[in-house]
Amino acid sequence: MITLRQINELRQLVQCWHGKGELVGVAMTMGALHAGHLSLATAAREECDRVLATLFVNPLQFGPAEDYEQYPREEERDLALLEESGCDAVFAPSVETIFPRGERFPTDSRTLVTVRGITQGLCGRSRPGHFAGVTTEVMKMMNITGADVAYFGEKDYQQYLVIRAMAEDLFLPVRVVACPTVREPDGLAMSSRNAYLTPAERARAPGLYATLCQMAAALRERGAGAAAGLVASGTGELLRLGFDAVEYLEIRDNALAEPGEDTAAAALRVFAAVRLGQARLIDNVAVEPEAAQA
Ligand code: PAF
Repeated sequence: MITLRQINELRQLVQCWHGKGELVGVAMTMGALHAGHLSLATAAREECDRVLATLFVNPLQFGPAEDYEQYPREEERDLALLEESGCDAVFAPSVETIFPRGERFPTDSRTLVTVRGITQGLCGRSRPGHFAGVTTEVMKMMNITGADVAYFGEKDYQQYLVIRAMAEDLFLPVRVVACPTVREPDGLAMSSRNAYLTPAERARAPGLYATLCQMAAALRERGAGAAAGLVASGTGELLRLGFDAVEYLEIRDNALAEPGEDTAAAALRVFAAVRLGQARLIDNVAVEPEAAQA
């Protein structure tokens, strides 16, 4: 596995692969890797001839009061894990390479890529500018890597839909694929931010997934008409389980639209973001997992 830091080096490598007719897959990450990230590389390994990973903590997607400085950076460990997962190359550029004008927030950008509509609710409400920061950086990575297929985790389901919409609207020659959320044995969705949890908080954290699963099961039985009542009882349950705050708990369809009374239960998903100590945890559960890839 080779590690590249310069844009032109990566472009030459991918051009060489494409010249041989090889299909290139990419797993984009911010490092501090866990099994969820590695599952993206594994999915790429299964479908593509060549596997790339990116390691880059993107400043543009962190708000001024968020954890950009604190975000775990473990490059040596991450590179070893990516090599074990069968990656052919890793692109790990400096911040100056990707943001040569010193941009730190989306408002600093001369060129900004924004997807409207589906970026407004859920994480977009509590993290203004976050998705513009993601799409601007992911667009750069798509352009630099030239990958044919890009893999993203379903834990960040809204992010996956936003990136897929960007790729579709801008005619990017890339297929955007969602991979299932990878969970700890007790159900907690794997996340680099789980490292912020104290042992006592870590013991409470699986209550998030358990609550979402209960809500999904109730929707399956009672239909979309039960949504409002389930959100109210689910919020109470999360607070009772010891989460410090429920940033949002919402039921949407697989395209993130607000459901009506007659929306098919199978098209619904339950989304949440909660605060637990220093961590902000997000998760989502589909009422019918097989309907997940809308
Ligand atoms: O999901 C992430 O880790 C990041 O948002 C991504 C897609 C790598 C962009 O920085």
